[in-house]
Amino acid sequence: MLILGIESSCDETGVALVETAPASSFDENVWPKLLAQALHSQIALHTPYGGVVPELASRDHIQRVVPLIRAVLAKSNRELKEIDAIAFTKGPGLAGALLVGAGVACALGASLNIPVLGVHHLEGHLLSPFLSSDHPRFPFVALLVSGGHTQLMMVQGVGEYEILGESIDDAAGEAFDKSAKLLGIDYPGGRELSELAESGNPVAYSFPRPLLHSKDLNFSFAGLKTAVLTQCKKLGDGLLAERANLAASTQAAIVEVLVKKSLKALEQTSMKSLVVAGGVGANKALRDSLNSECKKRGIRVHYPEIEFCTDNGAMIAMAGAMRIQTQRELPTKDYSFEVSPRWPLDQITQSVVKRDLRSF
Ligand code: KG4
Ligand code: ZN
Repeated sequence: MLILGIESSCDETGVALVETAPASSFDENVWPKLLAQALHSQIALHTPYGGVVPELASRDHIQRVVPLIRAVLAKSNRELKEIDAIAFTKGPGLAGALLVGAGVACALGASLNIPVLGVHHLEGHLLSPFLSSDHPRFPFVALLVSGGHTQLMMVQGVGEYEILGESIDDAAGEAFDKSAKLLGIDYPGGRELSELAESGNPVAYSFPRPLLHSKDLNFSFAGLKTAVLTQCKKLGDGLLAERANLAASTQAAIVEVLVKKSLKALEQTSMKSLVVAGGVGANKALRDSLNSECKKRGIRVHYPEIEFCTDNGAMIAMAGAMRIQTQRELPTKDYSFEVSPRWPLDQITQSVVKRDLRSF
């Protein structure tokens, strides 16, 4: 079976084609295979505005999506009529941007008379490590760190997600981006801040690590940007000379909290496997720290390939294909699409529950 995936939830238009065995011959060690993917990033488009402009994002998705579909078919040497189903990002994300992907997916589905499937963007991130040949095996603990979400999850299988803890305010990606802005770095900022941090001293400033020692697995990053702002103001003209130290100290605070909470989640669940997904999962300091801490504890850590950490079509095609393969969900020929700009991950299946950690 060939599944086309379309991602358009925010500032990247992504399209990909994966090949999967039909559900009837499902083998849990053989997951769908990526045939080709194509991506267009809108970062240059939004940079002059310091952040994503939703209307511009939607218009750009409209212009990019069909050429990207053509590019993916050409790269994989396949034709439109060979596609068996189309997965698209149904949410969460920007409503207008989501509607472009959903509209194109459903129109194409109707014209080809093939079923379509709305995919949860975070499930795409969560399952993106399955795009690697050395993929994880269920069950595992997942640390999902994207621009808008920071969650620790217990993942028993496709669609079986228990939220163990999450950010009560800003996401880790947001903390990177907001701090980056204070240091004069253009949106989105996370990657550039981490590059700047390489030449800085991570203990130059002692920034807060909220909830580090709390019993639960929740995060809080809003106080960090306030602390960075206060320090920037204090430095005044001296800020320029201290940018690298500020970047390194900010990154150290975020990484320490993410690592300690992940280790706590692994300990509380007695899991020996950790999956890290989402844009912040590309962060080198986070990877280095998790790798060394987990190695000491005999825990395997899986990451998506760097190119699949941030938004892309491959993760949506993959999540759709995995849902179909495991019969979590059947794609339908109901083309009266809708999108879910706000869509908590714990609503995607009935098996998803919010677990009270005290029960561990
Ligand atoms: O998962 P993603 O592409 O988008 C959402 O679904 O939100 O994540 C984007 C986030 C941004 O906040 C970006 O600054 C951050 O991931 N990011 C990084 C790095 N690369 C991307 N943050 C820290 N270090 C990086 N290397
Ligand atoms: Zn994302």
